[in-house]
Formats: sequence, C-alpha cells, structure tokens
Amino acid sequence: MKFNLPVVSTLVRNYWIFQRLAGYKLHLFLLCALVGGLISSFGIALLFPLLAASQITPVQANPLANFAEGVFTYFSIEMSITNIIVMMLGVFFLQALLTFLQNAYRVYIKATLGRDWQEKLLSCYGNIEYEYAISKSTGFINNLITIEVKRAVSAFSAFSIMLANLISIFVYVGISLQLSWRVTLGGALAAGLMMVSMKSGYRYSKRFSRETSDQNTKLNEFLLQTIQNYKYLKSTATFPIMFRKVSSSLNTLVSLQVKLGVIKWVLKAILEIAAISMVLVLFYFEVVVRGHSADSIVVICWFFFKTINRVNSFSHNWNGFFATEGGLVIVTKAIKNLENYREKITGKNIKSFSDKIKLTDVCFSYSDKTTLDNVNLTIGKNKTIAFVGESGAGKSTLVDLLTGILKPNSGSLTIDGIDYDEVDKNSLRHLFSYVTQDVTVFDDSVANNISLWEQGNEVEIRQRIEEAARLAHCSEFLSENEVSDEARTGDRGVKFSGGQRQRIAIARELFRSPDILILDEATSALDTTSELSIRNSIDGLKKDKTIIIIAHRLSTIKNSDYIYVLEQGKIVEHGSYDQLIQITESKFRKMVEIQNR
Ligand SMILES: Nc1ncnc2c1ncn2[C@@H]1O[C@H](COP(=O)(O)OP(=O)(O)OP(=O)(O)O)[C@@H](O)[C@H]1O
Ligand SMILES: [Mg+2]
Repeated sequence: MKFNLPVVSTLVRNYWIFQRLAGYKLHLFLLCALVGGLISSFGIALLFPLLAASQITPVQANPLANFAEGVFTYFSIEMSITNIIVMMLGVFFLQALLTFLQNAYRVYIKATLGRDWQEKLLSCYGNIEYEYAISKSTGFINNLITIEVKRAVSAFSAFSIMLANLISIFVYVGISLQLSWRVTLGGALAAGLMMVSMKSGYRYSKRFSRETSDQNTKLNEFLLQTIQNYKYLKSTATFPIMFRKVSSSLNTLVSLQVKLGVIKWVLKAILEIAAISMVLVLFYFEVVVRGHSADSIVVICWFFFKTINRVNSFSHNWNGFFATEGGLVIVTKAIKNLENYREKITGKNIKSFSDKIKLTDVCFSYSDKTTLDNVNLTIGKNKTIAFVGESGAGKSTLVDLLTGILKPNSGSLTIDGIDYDEVDKNSLRHLFSYVTQDVTVFDDSVANNISLWEQGNEVEIRQRIEEAARLAHCSEFLSENEVSDEARTGDRGVKFSGGQRQRIAIARELFRSPDILILDEATSALDTTSELSIRNSIDGLKKDKTIIIIAHRLSTIKNSDYIYVLEQGKIVEHGSYDQLIQITESKFRKMVEIQNR
C-alpha cells in the first residue's frame, strides 16, 4: 500500500502535466491503446473455438468462448479451423496496424511537444526581466533548451507508454477475471509483489536522473565558458584547466548513465525471468495440481503472458520515466519561473520621441551596493549627450535604465512626460539603437549583420546596407562586394579586428536608424583617424537624432551639447564641454589634462 499510493499520485500528477501539454492528442493515443487491447483480447478468445474445432482439448462454456462463438454466428461464418485461423490472422494484423499507428502518433506528439517546449522556453527567455536573465548562466539556459527538453520529451514518451500499458493491463485482467478470478488474482498478486520488490531500483533511478540534470547544466556551463574564452585559454596554455573541469563533469555523467542503464536492464531481466516462471507455475498448479481442463488455463496463460509483457513494459518505462523525469522537473519549473519573472510590457505605445527623457532622483543598486545615486538629468530631443567618468561609475547601468531593461529602486524616468511604468517597454526600445560596450556581432555575413536579416525589397535593402557601411567607415576594410558577400564573420566576429567589429556594429545601428542612438565605448578600439571619420559621420546625424555617447577618450565627446560626469554612481558635474573645461578645479578638466599629457 505504501508503494501504491506514490504510484497513483505520480501517475495522476504527471497525467495532468501531460494532459495540459498534449491535450486531446494524449487521449487519442490512449484510445488507440484501449481499442488495441480489446482487439487483441478478441484474437486470444478465438483460441476457444480453435481448440474446440481442432478437438485438442474439451472446451467448457465460459463468457469469452460464448462471445467468440457469438461473433461467428452473428456473421453466419462457419466455425472451421481455416476460418478461425484466417480470422485470428486478420485480428492480429489489425492489432499490429493499430500498434504501429499508435506508436507513429506517439512519435509525432513527442516531436511537436519538444518543439513547443523549446519555443515556449525561448519566448519566455526573451520576455523575462533583464535582472533575472543575467542571474542565470548561459550554460543553464543552453542546457535547458537543448538537453533537458529532450529528456523531458523522453519522460513524456515513457509516461504515455506506461498509461497505454496500464489500459491494456486493465483490459486483459478484466477479461481474465471472466475466466477464473482465482488464477487472475493470484497472477495479479504475484505481479504486484514483483513491482514492490523493485521499488528501490526506481528510487535510485529518480535520484540519478535529477543528478544527471544538475550535471548536464554544469557541463554546459564549463563547455560554453571554454568556447567563449578559447583565445585566452589557448594563448596562455590554460586550456587544460577547463579541460579538467569538463572531463570531471563528463566522468560524473558517465557514471550516472552507467548506473541508470544497469538499473534499467537489471529490472527488465528480472521481470522477464519472473514472468516466464509465473506462467509455468500457474499452468502446473491449475492443470497438474487442481486437475482442471487445459482450455481456459491455456487462454488465461496467454492473457497472463500478455499482461506480464505489459507489466514488464510498464515497469521498464516507469524506470525510464524516472531516469528522464529530472528533465521534466527542470523544464516545467523553469517555464513557471520564467513566467513569474515575465516583464510587464503592456502600457502606452510610444511611436516616436518628441521632447525629452527626464530622470528624477533615480537610485539603483544591483544588490546591496548602490550603483546609481540620486541621478537627475535630462536628454532633450536631437541633443548629443555624453556620460563620462571612471570605470565602474555606472555609465552603462544608466543606459540600461534608459532602455528600460533595468528599473530604478526609487525615483522616476519619464519620456515625453509619460512615466516609464506606464510605457509599453517594447515600443520604448524600438526608439533606441545601441552599440553595446561588448560589441554584438552575429556569425553571419556582414550584410546580414548590418540589416539583421531584414526582409523586403532586396535592391533597396542593399543600398541601405551599403550606405550604413559607408557612414560607419566599413569601406576601409571591406569592399562593396565584401559587404554583400556571403562570407561569415566567425563566432562573435572573430574574423575581424576589434575596431572593425565596432564599425560593423555601428553600421547596424545606422541602418536601423531609430530616434535615439546610444554609443557605449563604440569607438574605443579605433585608431584616432578612423574615430575622427566616424565622429564626422555621427556629427552629420546630430540635427535629427538624439545621441548618447559614453567614452573614456574625451576627444570623442568634444562635439556633444551636454556632458554629465559620473563618479561612484553620482552626477558630480554637468555642463557643456566649454563650460566644464573652463572651471579650473573641475574633475572634467583634470581628466582632459591627464589625457592630453
Ligand atoms: N550584472 C551586475 N551585477 C552586479 N553588479 C554589477 C552588474 N553590472 C555592473 N555591476 C556593477 O555596477 C557598477 C557600475 O557598472 P557599469 O557597468 O555601469 O560601469 P561603467 O561606468 O559602465 O564602467 P566602464 O567604464 O568600465 O564600462 C560597477 O561597480 C559594477 O561592478
Ligand atoms: Mg560601461
């Protein structure tokens, strides 16, 4: 009893999970199992007329034999051996066909379920709050969407087979009961005891499965970090350090897989031997000890054998379910968490930027440490604003608040007089183009990197790409043909230099061309001449774009309309370049002097 309640609760709980996910598809699959079970039972029942017709053993009247004979009478078919065998063949062919359709359908549900889960996870990931997203490692997300979804799908497959087996078991046991309740109950008791004796095997499977999920996450984290930091590891001969971590994780996984495999096959082997033994014992007991005629017992044995096969498959899949259940747990939990941290993006739709963005007493901290402290500033339309200050002063964080991916702990941000809390954040973000401090380059052609795969009039798009590339001075390292070339930029743009990557990223933002352009250290890797050329291009945009520039190299911001100097999250000085430079004691002036030395 202690064992059965968890079985029932596991079945019910997971039934609801899968029922929600697969809906009517799961029910259709189970209906196939029910019809298959009934058809095959009829096939077995045909043994009675066969035994009677062949006079191998006397047949006593019983409900099943009567039903089989009734079918022949109903269709006015003569009960000859040939007719019975042909009907048996037909019935088992039908059953095989149904089993095939049932399994093909299961494969289809599995594939679509995997796709749905992956799409769901990815779309949830795209919609969660940024702060929650950065608290999760790339390895975790990657493992979740690839490996754990596959394991969750396997868990579904095992679970649906288990349910189908359960239905068949009920059908077979129900029909066997019509023949001899004593033999059936004896067999059921023996099968039940067998399952109970395997309880600890299932418990270990469950434990090892969850450990496998955790270890897969670790492996992915190590692997991604190794690949992302490959250049450093290679140049400094420190690759073996990461290799050892990956290798240790792989070894743990191997040991877990071996343990799971051994449990699976040991349980299967035990069940197979036990099934054969039980059929033989039943036969001996009924025919030799109790002296009953062999007809019913032969049929019961057949039912019993089929039932045991199903019990065996049930148990095999029960174990398989626990071996992959870790994936299901982690995927369903992740979907729930991601949905809980879903960013609220409903609100007023902003089509354009017409006046100003205003920050009033804005404070922000990542954890306990204050990152931005009482920031007050205004960014007027078509103005060029610069944020300068020491490393870690909070400049990039400030930009994250402007794009709305971070929310202030206190204070307010408004755009054209509307509070950020009342703004549809997606529409807000459409106003920004952003050259991030860590340059974003996709491993695709330069043209696709600039247009972000934009669809439409090809000639027009190509002209726009070429224009953006020209403004970002990509022509210094790429001919027009090379911009449109299919050649890929390599992983994160590895085939280009740091400065070239920055120019590709700038070209993309010039191509997109929304109202506000943010350049976070966008030209830091460029030589002075190239930087000057890009600055001229950007200055050309000044009259109809709002530009926010962050730069350590102060010559970059010389032409800005207004400068905010940040120090440890506070705005310590602000004014135009000329105003700030004229204040003898200003921090800004000191910074300029140091750079000019
Ligand atoms: N994801 C994060 N979690 C916790 N702290 C963070 C996070 N990102 C940044 N910080 C902290 O916030 C502070 C401000 O970082 P920020 O990136 O805004 O500085 P910055 O002015 O852009 O510096 P730099 O000029 O070096 O780019 C730093 O002290 C940094 O350690
Ligand atoms: Mg920064």
